Amino acid sequence: MPPPRLRVLGVLTSGGDAPGMNAAIRAVVRTAIGRGVLVVGIERGFSGLIMEKFVPLERRSVANIIQRGGTMLLTSRCPEFHERKVRARAADLLKRAGIGALVVIGGDGSFRGAHLLEQETGVRVAGIPGTIDNDLNGTGTTIGFDTAVNTALEAIDRIRDTAASHERVFFIEVMGRAAGYIALQVGLAGGAEAILVPEIPVSIRSVAASIRRGQDVGKRSSLIVVAEGEEPGRSFRIARELLRMTGEESRVVVLGHIQRGGTPTAADRVLASRLGSAAVEHLLKGESDFMVGVAQGEVRAVPLPSTWRGRKPFDRRLYDLAGILAQ
Ligand code: F6P
Repeated sequence: MPPPRLRVLGVLTSGGDAPGMNAAIRAVVRTAIGRGVLVVGIERGFSGLIMEKFVPLERRSVANIIQRGGTMLLTSRCPEFHERKVRARAADLLKRAGIGALVVIGGDGSFRGAHLLEQETGVRVAGIPGTIDNDLNGTGTTIGFDTAVNTALEAIDRIRDTAASHERVFFIEVMGRAAGYIALQVGLAGGAEAILVPEIPVSIRSVAASIRRGQDVGKRSSLIVVAEGEEPGRSFRIARELLRMTGEESRVVVLGHIQRGGTPTAADRVLASRLGSAAVEHLLKGESDFMVGVAQGEVRAVPLPSTWRGRKPFDRRLYDLAGILAQ
């Protein structure tokens, strides 16, 4: 039996905010309304869902947001959603509000919650990849990644000026929970002497050797890009270790949440617009439990669990290229 016609759609943002989430909300709202579907915005992610933070959204509600970072719907991390009874309550509240399907804009944690909600209660869900980490399978990039990379790169270019003037070693730590995708891009684009990522373990001894090789060929300063991995702030430990092993003094800059804010790039706005619209179209076809992504230039829907199962391939050739070009 085909699913009942979709009359009301819910949309929420969840987990860490990412630049471009607003553009995705705008695309969801305007595509849905254009197709005769009402839209309810749910504030503060799953936390807001279980507290019934529902707001009707019109075309004009999403005016002037495409260029804004953050998320107009607010976001949160919601540990309670790990509990089955909380998900059951969420489903009840959605049904009572007449919401026939839910669009979740977020990362893997949010998608796991959405998938369980679907499996246990039958609420139809669609995922839109919104995270600066780019750690989801099924899409070349996630919404927010390009902006975060460019923001970090701008900071790195500035740090290079002071590093060169003082002939110093700098460790620059970028975000990426257990993932080195941001570090890889900014390390290559910023001309880093070394890139430390969770995907490719490197000893401090070999970092010291890269710095030494640079100095031997006349480099007076070195930039080492470090992905935070599972240990935000780990650059301080690495810098201390380097000092102990080699006597080399260095400075540490942790870019942190600066990377999450700011005006989304054109690439993120375009991606978010395509994916927001595609999520609605796939729901209208009766599909559920999928994420929309762009792979090889095409928008595709993939099963939600496939987005977090297995590690997204890490581009080893790009990593090696950064190493070759740093010499
Ligand atoms: O998942 C996005 C991200 O920015 C990660 O890179 C980072 O580890 C984490 O969120 C930080 O989360 P919070 O803002 O909750 O401290």
